[in-house]
Amino acid sequence: MNTAKLILPEQEVELPIVVGSEFEKALDISKLRGTTGFITLDSGYGNTGSCKSAITFINGEKGILRYRGYPIEEIADKCSFLETAYLLIYGNLPNAEQKAAFQDNVTSHTLIHEDMKKFFEGYPSNAHPMAILASMFTSLSTFYPNNQDTDLDIVRLIAKAPTIAAFSYKKSVGQPFVYPRNDLEYASNFLQMMWAVPAQEYEVSPAVRDALNLLLILHADHEQNCSTSTVRMVGSSQANLFASMAAGVSALWGPLHGGANQKVIEMLQRIRDDGGDYKKYMAMAKDKDSGFRLMGFGHRVYKNFDPRARILEKAAGRVLSELGLSDPLLDIAKNLEEIALADEYFVERKLYPNVDFYSGIIYRAMGIPTEMFTVMFALGRLPGWIAQWKEMRDDPKGRIYRPRQVYVGATERHLD
Ligand code: CMC
Repeated sequence: MNTAKLILPEQEVELPIVVGSEFEKALDISKLRGTTGFITLDSGYGNTGSCKSAITFINGEKGILRYRGYPIEEIADKCSFLETAYLLIYGNLPNAEQKAAFQDNVTSHTLIHEDMKKFFEGYPSNAHPMAILASMFTSLSTFYPNNQDTDLDIVRLIAKAPTIAAFSYKKSVGQPFVYPRNDLEYASNFLQMMWAVPAQEYEVSPAVRDALNLLLILHADHEQNCSTSTVRMVGSSQANLFASMAAGVSALWGPLHGGANQKVIEMLQRIRDDGGDYKKYMAMAKDKDSGFRLMGFGHRVYKNFDPRARILEKAAGRVLSELGLSDPLLDIAKNLEEIALADEYFVERKLYPNVDFYSGIIYRAMGIPTEMFTVMFALGRLPGWIAQWKEMRDDPKGRIYRPRQVYVGATERHLD
């Protein structure tokens, strides 16, 4: 059966059925309005496939996440972040030669133009680093305006994003910027730009480096989420790569999306400061009038464990013990998870911890300030945004994104 019948008040139409490589089923409604005058209405796009994509597969019922076919658990175990980025963007893992070339290329583009440093001077020291990141991404298009070589722009973005992120942190604490070092791999280079200070030796901790690599990989893509759809939406008008990525950063910033990692830690701190009574907050999360949600819980697609959260829960304990730290917030988080998973409200709605629930505990252990958490998410998500942008732009049948609406406002009226 490769069509479905739609029975409308005065007509019937056959709609093609599209089946994905993992047997996901869709109705192709692209000719619906033209032939019937009807559009579909799907607030929040919960049932709308906006594209066909070969990058990331999620089965939310079974808690499966794969990049280009590889299970996230295997990638997290065996790959570096740059290999993962290459896989997402170009479709296959790089061979030894491609890997070396990609790494060299990224390493040789980590500096930002000296004139860009002046922008940082203009921001208040308490500027949110997500605002700076979005502005700086857009600014890159003023330095590289020609759009002739997409691969080069891709490398520039991946290479310069950590420099911009670390500079925004240095600005916030009033320390001099630390320049990228070409002898260090991606994660270590970022860490030294964050923590090194002039005239003092800085040695990258392998535990922190590995934790960062893991976090970046787990965030690298997640198919058509809010920020990725934004990137595709903006890119569909043929806006340049840098401007499209800046839009992704802005979409990610919100607390219902990437901003949740900051909110999780703020929530756990609030519970701790309020005496650690996590049951009280559980009751508030269930009370719709409280305005309080359990941050780091729930997901539009996962109706089972988010596989990234499972990996991160284990990693949080491991990283804390490797660094010889303990964090009361981890205990509060574990207690919250335990009672939520047994609570009828959460069970009924299939609300599980998501990627943001444990990531903040690890960022804290690494010494990353809370305001930088969503920037860390953005650094990780960047290859995914780029891969999705490139897939859309390379599609010969690609069209500008332009949804319809059902108008419910005033009918025609006139001025007296
Ligand atoms: N705490 C309490 N109740 C919740 C929560 C939560 N965290 N999440 C969902 N619900 C309830 C919601 O009130 C609704 O109840 P009812 O059916 O009685 O009206 C039901 O569960 C379905 O929720 P929804 O808001 O319709 O679901 P959604 O798919 O529109 O939203 C979500 C998904 C992630 C925005 C939402 O679960 C949420 O706000 N979670 C907290 C924020 C968060 O952790 N965001 C990070 C998402 S993962 C990282 C990323 O990809 O961005």
